Amino acid sequence: MVRLARQLRLASAGNGRIRLMLATIATFACVTWTVALISSVGKFGDSGQNGQISLEDFDSIQQSLPELTHKSQRCVSPKLPVTNQLVRANRPRPIPADVCQRGTSKNWLRVSESRVYLRPEYSSANCTAEPVVWLDDQSSEFGSARPLRSGDKLPSLGFRASCQSPDRTSRHSSVYYGVKRATSSAAGSRGGSPTDSSELGNVIMLGLDSLSRLESLRSLPRASRIMQDRLGAITLQQYNIMGDGTPAALLPILTGVREADMPESRKGFAGARFLDDSLRWIFEDLRDRGFVTLYGEEGNFMGTFQLRFHGFRRQPTDFYLRPALLQQERLQTNAICIGDEIASARMLLAVKDLFTLHPDRPKFAFTFFSSLSHENQDLSPMDAELVKFLDWFEAANLSSNTSIILMSDHGQRHGPLRNSMQGKLEESLPLMSIALSRQLMSRKKAAAEMLRTNANRLTTPVDIHRTLLNLSGLRDSTTLAASGASLTSYSLIDEAVPETRSCSDAGIPTHWCSCLRLKKIQEPSSNELAVRAARFAVNQMNSATEPFRHLCHELQLGNVTEADVSLISGDLAKRERQMGRDFSYNMANSDLVASGYITVRLFAKPSSGLYEATVQFSLQQHSGFSGGRRILKFLYVSEPSRINRYGRQADCIAQMQPHLRKFCFCEP
Ligand SMILES: *[C@@H]1O[C@H](CO)[C@@H](O)[C@H](O)[C@H]1NC(C)=O
Ligand SMILES: *[C@@H]1O[C@H](CO)[C@@H](O)[C@H](O)[C@H]1NC(C)=O
Ligand SMILES: *[C@@H]1O[C@H](CO)[C@@H](O)[C@H](O)[C@H]1NC(C)=O
Ligand SMILES: *[C@@H]1O[C@H](CO)[C@@H](O)[C@H](O)[C@H]1NC(C)=O
Ligand SMILES: *[C@@H]1O[C@H](CO)[C@@H](O)[C@H](O)[C@H]1NC(C)=O
Repeated sequence: MVRLARQLRLASAGNGRIRLMLATIATFACVTWTVALISSVGKFGDSGQNGQISLEDFDSIQQSLPELTHKSQRCVSPKLPVTNQLVRANRPRPIPADVCQRGTSKNWLRVSESRVYLRPEYSSANCTAEPVVWLDDQSSEFGSARPLRSGDKLPSLGFRASCQSPDRTSRHSSVYYGVKRATSSAAGSRGGSPTDSSELGNVIMLGLDSLSRLESLRSLPRASRIMQDRLGAITLQQYNIMGDGTPAALLPILTGVREADMPESRKGFAGARFLDDSLRWIFEDLRDRGFVTLYGEEGNFMGTFQLRFHGFRRQPTDFYLRPALLQQERLQTNAICIGDEIASARMLLAVKDLFTLHPDRPKFAFTFFSSLSHENQDLSPMDAELVKFLDWFEAANLSSNTSIILMSDHGQRHGPLRNSMQGKLEESLPLMSIALSRQLMSRKKAAAEMLRTNANRLTTPVDIHRTLLNLSGLRDSTTLAASGASLTSYSLIDEAVPETRSCSDAGIPTHWCSCLRLKKIQEPSSNELAVRAARFAVNQMNSATEPFRHLCHELQLGNVTEADVSLISGDLAKRERQMGRDFSYNMANSDLVASGYITVRLFAKPSSGLYEATVQFSLQQHSGFSGGRRILKFLYVSEPSRINRYGRQADCIAQMQPHLRKFCFCEP
């Protein structure tokens, strides 16, 4: 694979054919595609600056790197650009907002506030409903059919509607679901009502699978804006995952226990128990205090808690959407749409109905969407649905006593960006954006301030569990006791996360730890790594102006005035994904010595331009015959910035190629 990548890099020098080649390769090897593409992005490097180095240089570079101490070191978060060349080159194909209306399949019914209505254009249709009956967490079946008329009460939480037109020429069949009005017996069945309900607050969690914090800015621009500007959401900047995949994130959020610490619940293991027998779920804590609860997720055929685990013995929430969604997904032929509606719109509607139908009870809704984001597709239809939902949320005055959280489990786990360092870091840093209710903000002014402080500290899903209980007005007596581990967790609205918290303090394995180790390089002009990185950056700039060499002088490195290295844990740098191997990671590149970013400030000749550039580097030691090879590789991250004035230096190109002005020194 590495050899292939190198050939591609050579082939890529100065032509555009590479795209075509890569596209062909991608069709049969996703992993190769990733590696190859990164190399092609590094096309600015010449082999002299981006390759084999001597033993002396290798030693001196190693000495200039920060020390690798894992314990109790202050966590510095990476400053990643929202977008870079690799990101821009790999945007998903746009999906029009009305994608579902373009098909021929229509929905004949709609569910609203516990009732079922025939859409006006199908009002004369003849329909029956078969209720979805929960058997256990892996299966459900349909009950017997009953006639269904427009305006009828929801026959059951989920049901299959079968309709035909009066002349019997057209038919419709689909699974619908909704939320029912709670009967008073349901309210009392799980224990007492709250002591002082005014202390309790509603919580809505909207999760999207595989969405890094940065990807949310790229892919959900409108919803992110509303969350931040209108609802005052605070986004955790260093919210770090604790393990691989969705359960590693959702389990600690909903139980306070890390997957690694949970009692055996995996399928195929002796003594494995149901998840609600082995763990205490936040749903139970809340139900005991009178909350109405809802849990729904997309992609139920590989459910978060049912794919590898035994799932729940009892339905965990008052409104558990899994049985209905399992049946719905079976009928669904399109991953994005149900009939002429965006699939995720239905679950959002269920949350709306939950709030409308239960005005007098505190509510907790946990929803998790994967239909678009899991496959790294364009999220604009989801963005539009979220905007509609948030508009309603505001208009219904829910922000007064409801906290709303837009979140994810982890960043993208595959795709072209994934094998770049940025992609690895983004995988570890998912979205967690919390908009506190206005009530909370006015009653506890310190809460928002505390959250804002903690937004810049290292935080984890276990903290979210404690925070959720605190947001709902409950005390967390379970987190530590249940986990049986010595992990400390913090309520992010009430307790300050120590600035010195390290990944090991937080229980984050080094594979997933996004913290950097920083070091300022003394005398950068005579430091091997700094000088090579600076030359690499100058080469990039020269490549950009290459087609205009008759106008722009070639630049040379003058001196390097400053350099900062940020090293990434070797574990994280090595983390590779192998497609189709049951979500495992392997340890390729075992010869990787160090990897990270270096930021240099440099003067270029003859323009005396002062530039700041960040490049990714990796230092490798290939053992083997003839003493082995030592390789220093650089990778283009983003365009260098010019940080002194360039006056009239670039006038010759200002009209024609204005974006190149900062790199162009016009021939006098
Ligand atoms: C609906 O269809 C069933 C079965 O074809 C039929 O028995 C029934 O009379 C129809 N009802 C109406 C209202 O058309
Ligand atoms: C929240 O506010 C809504 C609307 O102002 C109100 O109807 C509801 O009772 C409140 N709920 C709680 C749990 O305080
Ligand atoms: C919104 O709800 C709060 C309490 O939950 C109430 O004090 C306020 O008057 C409501 N505002 C509107 C516009 O309904
Ligand atoms: C959060 O929990 C702390 C105790 O851990 C408690 O003192 C505080 O009042 C709680 N805050 C809210 C908003 O419930
Ligand atoms: C680097 O070069 C610039 C411009 O040529 C010069 O002004 C500066 O003094 C030099 N700095 C060092 C540390 O050599």
